[in-house]
Amino acid sequence: MSELGTLEDLPLEYRNQLTDNNLVPLWPSLRAALPHGKPSRRTKPMVWQYSDIRPRLMEAGELTPIEKAERRVLVLANPGLGLENMQATPTIYIGMQLILPGETAPNHVHSPSAVRFVIEGQGGFTAVDGEKMPMEKGDLILTPSGLWHEHGHEGDGPVVWLDALDLPTVFAMEASYCLEGDPQVIRNQPDMSQTTYMRSGLVPFAGLHKPRNPYPLKRFPWKDTRAALESLASVTNEGTPVQLAYVNPETGEPCMPVLGFSAVMLRPGETITPIRRSSSAVMHVIEGSGQAMVDGVELEWGESDTFAVPTHAVVRITNNGKKPAFLFQVDDAPMQQKLGFFEEFDA
Ligand SMILES: [Fe+2]
Repeated sequence: MSELGTLEDLPLEYRNQLTDNNLVPLWPSLRAALPHGKPSRRTKPMVWQYSDIRPRLMEAGELTPIEKAERRVLVLANPGLGLENMQATPTIYIGMQLILPGETAPNHVHSPSAVRFVIEGQGGFTAVDGEKMPMEKGDLILTPSGLWHEHGHEGDGPVVWLDALDLPTVFAMEASYCLEGDPQVIRNQPDMSQTTYMRSGLVPFAGLHKPRNPYPLKRFPWKDTRAALESLASVTNEGTPVQLAYVNPETGEPCMPVLGFSAVMLRPGETITPIRRSSSAVMHVIEGSGQAMVDGVELEWGESDTFAVPTHAVVRITNNGKKPAFLFQVDDAPMQQKLGFFEEFDA
């Protein structure tokens, strides 16, 4: 691979002429834009420990009333990408949100898609499109782009959940915005996860020959996901990742368009080496403790901790506990697949 000319090789007058005309020579930046073999990555493999986040989130509850915050969130920002950019990885926004008894987030809609993954507390709820969904630890709740949603807390004590959004992508496209509206009219019936989509493989007959609903199921209860992982583990060889993806039950497609969501189980003492992928990811610990080796960086993780995995990273995850460990994975594989450059590598 030959050396390319640098900016300094060019006469100053010529460079100034380019600048005056809003022009940039490609060749001095070509290798940085298209590195050979593997992308250059600024995302740091790193862990955010919940023991560092929780006290500061509770303090935010005292320092900033909800009217002054609207969303009381501490964002997990990867220093490799610049803290001010609020990116856990280049495409994944992760926030930890505190909601106190009686607080609400009024009805609104926005262009980025979001999911909530409940970390602690009882009594929180999210309503989407008139469907009121309880929020229990480990539940995944979808608030897709363009659907009206509101949050509230009818219980006691703090409720904390993890927000995962495709905000970095939508923001980079200068397409991120929000609207506020009147409170929803809530349908007086349990949510779809408890009524219409109770079992995988069974969908309402009446909808079979109609255009598919992009978001038929908006709540994935943890008790069902956990039981499904344990069942899969019973027929899976040790060392093979026991992992289930959250999908649209009517199409089998990832449940959201940009980010993908899945849950992983590791048996006691088990080590897994997930296949290397071109997508970036964030792993959030639901239960258990252990280590992860991400591109040679060793990370320690425990319950409710969260760690970042850059694109193309070599990953090894170990559960060093005596009980099964469970992790929630967010990745940008659905977007990479749609854009046509998603890859999986043998090693
Ligand atoms: Fe929202």
